Amino acid sequence: MSYQDVYNGWKNDPEAFWMQAADAIDWDTPPSQALFDKGDHMYEWFSDAKVNTCWNAVDRHVEAGRGEQTAIIHDSPITHSKREISYVELRNRVASLAGALRAKGVEKGDRVIIYMPMIPEALEAMLACARLGAIHSVVFGGFASNELAVRIDDAKPKAIIAASCGLEPGRVVHYKPLLDGAIDLATHKPDFCVIFQREQEVAQLIEGRDFNWHGFQYGVEPAECVPVEGNHPAYILYTSGTTGQPKGVVRHTAGHLVALNWTMKNVFNVDPGDVFWAASDVGWVVGHSYITYAPLIHGNTTIVFEGKPVGTPDAGTFWRVISEHQVKTFFTAPTAFRAVKREDPQGEFVKKYDMSCMEQVFLAGERADPDTIIWAQDQLQKPIIDHWWQTELGYPAICNPVGIELLPVKLGSPSLPMPGYDMKVLDEGGNELPPGELGAIVSKLPLPPGTLPTLWNAEDRFKKSYLTNFPGYYETGDAGMIDEDGYVYIMARTDDVINVAGHRLSTGGMEEVLAGHPDVAECAVIGVADQLKGQMPVGFLCLNAGADRDHGEVVKEVVKLVREKIGPVAAFKLAVVVDRLPKTRSGKILRGTMVSIADGTEWKMPATIDDPVILDEITVALQSIGYATS
Ligand code: COA
Ligand code: AMP
Repeated sequence: MSYQDVYNGWKNDPEAFWMQAADAIDWDTPPSQALFDKGDHMYEWFSDAKVNTCWNAVDRHVEAGRGEQTAIIHDSPITHSKREISYVELRNRVASLAGALRAKGVEKGDRVIIYMPMIPEALEAMLACARLGAIHSVVFGGFASNELAVRIDDAKPKAIIAASCGLEPGRVVHYKPLLDGAIDLATHKPDFCVIFQREQEVAQLIEGRDFNWHGFQYGVEPAECVPVEGNHPAYILYTSGTTGQPKGVVRHTAGHLVALNWTMKNVFNVDPGDVFWAASDVGWVVGHSYITYAPLIHGNTTIVFEGKPVGTPDAGTFWRVISEHQVKTFFTAPTAFRAVKREDPQGEFVKKYDMSCMEQVFLAGERADPDTIIWAQDQLQKPIIDHWWQTELGYPAICNPVGIELLPVKLGSPSLPMPGYDMKVLDEGGNELPPGELGAIVSKLPLPPGTLPTLWNAEDRFKKSYLTNFPGYYETGDAGMIDEDGYVYIMARTDDVINVAGHRLSTGGMEEVLAGHPDVAECAVIGVADQLKGQMPVGFLCLNAGADRDHGEVVKEVVKLVREKIGPVAAFKLAVVVDRLPKTRSGKILRGTMVSIADGTEWKMPATIDDPVILDEITVALQSIGYATS
């Protein structure tokens, strides 16, 4: 079947399409129908089914006689260690951990926060929650205490599972003090914490609150899989929005299972038993979907990689892992390839490894610039597939579905919508734009299974953020166009979200931190173009009258403040002090114009600008830090 056949098959009968995809899942009670229309543009999928995610990701493969197959390969160039876990071992380890959590009172519907680095235990913690029907919320290790505290207060977890430390090149990330700090800051307190002690740093436990990962499993009954309703939340994953308060994306259980399983063959072209590697982090949606859940649900071997594309130890690490573990499909972010390309433009490391096992490479998380794609094609001689999706959607929405058919690649476009997505480009008034014209990218409702049904405890925010501007459509927050062949081009965000090294960050959140500095009267943060990371945040600070401070000192302090409050992942290193910010006459800061000046791209003087002279000052300030030079 061609892509067009599959897509039309879905479009003609979505209900039949998703019910057929659901056949690949082991149900305790099969769904009687796929879509449940809740009214007011709210939808759910497979709500009347009963199912367990952990059963589908782990136990069923053991029952089917594949227990000895490797489920997880941990490859950590940072600790110089490698380890394999078979499906049967994984089942036993997860059942034991789930049993211990249950013995401490964790039950279906309870929230559990997971704050762990790239170790198999992070996946085991997620699966143990799934086994019990507990709702996990994984927090990325690059976030600091304050961000963790915000998530604790929103999710109100009964338990927090953490590791003693994470490892960045040349630096131990002290998770436990960060966790303790977060619990101190948060109003909600978990009943208990479980700490996985790593040998690189053994953390001090707080008597009565903290339990040792191994110790607390001693002598407990392993837990069986608890069937949950199809619309039971499998997890909450917080992602950046316009403000510092992150959005808690909810994922329902059944749709998640059906959709992820469908993508493994149709999009990523792997069969059960094949090795699949997503070089991301469990703290991001890519890690949830394509390190933990999809490969395991589909019976693949997944790789948990604790390292970086460069420097651990060199720019050949990716190629070593691919050849050593026989990876068939590899998934990474363009920024990682840019980092490798910078160190090894001629691909000297590529030549050292036999990568004949690898059939295709997928890139996502940010725009894949044509230079990077061409470089990767030249080096690897394999299809390099750009594909687009978001935390909210959970799996590829615009893609070149290699498992169905390798479509002609158009550089700069992630290709065509997947079944489930009817994408349009609309103008501000909600009118559909013709091919080639730039506007807001939206998808007709309902969204397919596995996408967000709502935001945790924030249904109004869900509706306001995604459903209100363009009634009947899901608003992606991205701007772009569709060409005459239906290929979608993603150009920019329409909100204050920026993308730094494939990490989604809120400039609004950073502005809230800067505004908290006692000398800062007003501020703005923009994302400027960066050759390696795609974008980098730059802060503009207007100081309080009478703040007679050395500007360099204030900049240092705000850089430190963002690192402390949001975390190192914000990569906030650049700020300048200016007298005033450019604004419209109604007081809106002209961030877009500032970005164009910084990037040296064409821009027009906004008709509504209050005082054009301020832009000269902005230009000089940007030049002082190496931008606005062309
Ligand atoms: N825990 C703690 N700190 C972390 C972290 C984690 N899990 N991940 C990143 N950080 C820290 C880094 O150590 C760095 O700290 P520093 O300021 O002390 O150097 C900071 O956060 C910024 O990290 P990053 O923006 O990733 O920059 P980098 O220089 O460390 O690495 C790349 C650059 C391009 C190599 C790296 O960003 C990369 O591999 N990106 C791929 C991204 C990806 O897979 N995204 C997932 C979406 S698909
Ligand atoms: P996240 O929710 O972290 O996955 O980030 C999603 C956002 O990243 C999207 O809304 C886009 O702005 C951007 N993005 C992800 N993949 C791509 C891609 N292939 N091309 C362009 N932008 C992308």
